[in-house]
Amino acid sequence: MKRYGFIGYGNMGRALVLSLLRDRSLAPDHVTVFNRTSDSLSELSELFPDVVLSTSPSEVARASDVLFLCTDTSAVGDVMEEISRDLDGNTHVVTINSGIAIGTLEALHAGPVSKVIPTMIMTSGHGFTLIAHGSRVPPLLQEDLEALFQRSSKVKLVAEGCLNDSTDLTSCAPGLMAMMMEAFSESGARSCGLPLEEVREIVLETMLGTALTLATGNDNTLGLMDKVATRGGITEKGLKVLEMELPAIFDRMFEATRTARGGQALPIGETSG
Ligand SMILES: NC(=O)c1ccc[n+]([C@@H]2O[C@H](COP(=O)([O-])OP(=O)(O)OC[C@H]3O[C@@H](n4cnc5c(N)ncnc54)[C@H](OP(=O)(O)O)[C@@H]3O)[C@@H](O)[C@H]2O)c1
Repeated sequence: MKRYGFIGYGNMGRALVLSLLRDRSLAPDHVTVFNRTSDSLSELSELFPDVVLSTSPSEVARASDVLFLCTDTSAVGDVMEEISRDLDGNTHVVTINSGIAIGTLEALHAGPVSKVIPTMIMTSGHGFTLIAHGSRVPPLLQEDLEALFQRSSKVKLVAEGCLNDSTDLTSCAPGLMAMMMEAFSESGARSCGLPLEEVREIVLETMLGTALTLATGNDNTLGLMDKVATRGGITEKGLKVLEMELPAIFDRMFEATRTARGGQALPIGETSG
């Protein structure tokens, strides 16, 4: 049975480790975790006492067949330097930083390297995990890594060159969609005079129902709009405004994220912020 290590237990590291343990994709006694500050790890050891909490990145590296780097992009260079003598040539190194190029890690590690971009919503068993493999990852290791995420999410293999911009649709999207819901709620509260908290609840329930209805496959987005908006009715008037305004807003949003990334994965030490 493979041993899995995680260096970095921030928001995404935590979501990743807890999701994979909860859906039993990982066995607790085969997991080692290190975080620079230990405070955040007490919840993990309470939930999964058999998980090994490590005192150094080097210890995790030595204890892992598959090693996930889950720190800030800016810390990856230092972490790789620190563990360079502890990494076995066969260890499968996996970065969750879209800002780190696979090639950059391959220059620092002689073994297989993959990039996995998970999403915060994998804790709900939904969302897409994007995966790109370096040229040294043999088919069996590719399959194992992809299988690891298949319970908690849908898995999409993407060429590394396309991966960065695709994260807008996967790992960034929950934040972007939450913003859309918030703007919808705040405007709705102003318009109908209900308290904002009540409107947020209504919007959440409606968004959930809309997503579930679409997920049945009986209707697509265009079909649902058509069904809800009776000709000459009120919904149609609202849709017309959105049709005029939203495409330009989303084009600007994608342009801003692409510009922020600089279009490329960055060399270690640089960060797109
Ligand atoms: N958030 C998402 O939805 C998401 C999705 C996909 C990918 N990612 C990627 O995941 C990475 C981490 O994101 P996050 O949201 O988890 O950020 P975060 O909550 O800020 O966590 C950052 C992690 O990096 C560690 N760290 C920071 N500087 C360090 C250093 N100098 N040495 C050692 N450890 C250091 C932190 O340790 P301490 O707790 O000790 O500070 C913490 O574990 C980012 O590259 C991000 O692009 C995030």
